[in-house]
Amino acid sequence: MSHRIAVGSQASNGKGRGMAVIIALCNQKGGVGKTTSTVNLGAALAEQGQRILMVDLDPQAALTAYWGLHEPLPEPTLYRLLSDSRTPVQSALRSVRTTIDVIPSDIDLAAAEIELFSALGRERILKEVLDPLADVYDFVLIDCPPNLGLLTINALVAAHGVIVPLQCEYFALRGLSMLLDTLAKVKRRLNPQLEITGILPTLYNGRTRHAKEVLEEVRGMFGERVFDTVIRTSIRFAESTVAHQPILEFAPKHVGAQSYRSLAKEILDDTNTQ
Ligand SMILES: Nc1ncnc2c1ncn2[C@@H]1O[C@H](COP(=O)(O)OP(=O)(O)O)[C@@H](O)[C@H]1O
Ligand SMILES: [Mg+2]
Repeated sequence: MSHRIAVGSQASNGKGRGMAVIIALCNQKGGVGKTTSTVNLGAALAEQGQRILMVDLDPQAALTAYWGLHEPLPEPTLYRLLSDSRTPVQSALRSVRTTIDVIPSDIDLAAAEIELFSALGRERILKEVLDPLADVYDFVLIDCPPNLGLLTINALVAAHGVIVPLQCEYFALRGLSMLLDTLAKVKRRLNPQLEITGILPTLYNGRTRHAKEVLEEVRGMFGERVFDTVIRTSIRFAESTVAHQPILEFAPKHVGAQSYRSLAKEILDDTNTQ
C-alpha cells in the first residue's frame, strides 16, 4: 500500500491528534463484508488506541444489530439527524466499548433516501451532521447500504477515503467499474479530497483455485490499490455476529482477528506517513 489517504495534519490540534479520518466502507453488492469489516476494522483500530465512531448508514441496520443496539431501539437514530438539523449529533452517540461509539439506524432510514431528495445540498447532509465530531474521534467508519443511492453519495461526500470490500469469487469484478466510476464522479464534482483507501479482498477461500485466480486478477488490475491483507472465509465471523462481539473479542487469536489487525496496521501506517 502506498500513501493515499488525504487527511488533515495529524498534529494539527497540538496534542498529536488531528482531525478524524472518515472512511466509507462501500460496495453496491450486498453480502461482501461491509458490515463485518466496519465492526472488526473499528475494533482493531480501537485496540491500537484509536477513538472510533461507526455510523450505520444502511436502513437494514445490520451494524446496529451487530452491537445489540436494536432492542429497545435507541432514539435519536441517524434518520433523525439527517432529517432534522436541530438534533445535536451528540445525542445519537451510543457507547458500545470504552473507545467505540455507534450512531445507530433502523428501517426509518429508508425514508431518508426519498425525503432528502428534494433537500437543498442533499449530498452534504451527512457531512454536516459529522462535522462537529472531527476532533472527538480518530476514525469514523461509515457502513454503507448495498446501493449507490443518495445515502451512499452522502457517505462519499463526508469521507476522506473509501474501502471497497470485494468478495473473492467469479463476477466479483462485475459492478466494480460502476462503483469506481461513481467514486470518480463524486471526487470531481462534490469531494475533491476523496481517495480510495484500498480494495479489501474478503470471503477468501484459499482452498479453491478460483478464489486464488480472482485474487490474482484483482491484484493484476488494481495493483497497489489492493490491501496486502486478505480476509479469509470463516464460520467464526457468523458466530461472533450472533454473540454481538467483534471477532477480535470473540476469538482474539483466530486468523480472522489477526487479519483485521493487519488491515488496521496498513491503514495506520498509511495515515501516519501523510
Ligand atoms: N470472512 C468471512 N467469512 C465468513 N463469513 C463472513 C465473512 N465476512 C462476512 N461474513 C458473513 O457474510 C454475511 C455478509 O457479511 P456482511 O458483513 O453483512 O456484508 P455486507 O455488509 O456487505 O452486506 C454475514 O452473514 C457475515 O457474517
Ligand atoms: Mg451490511
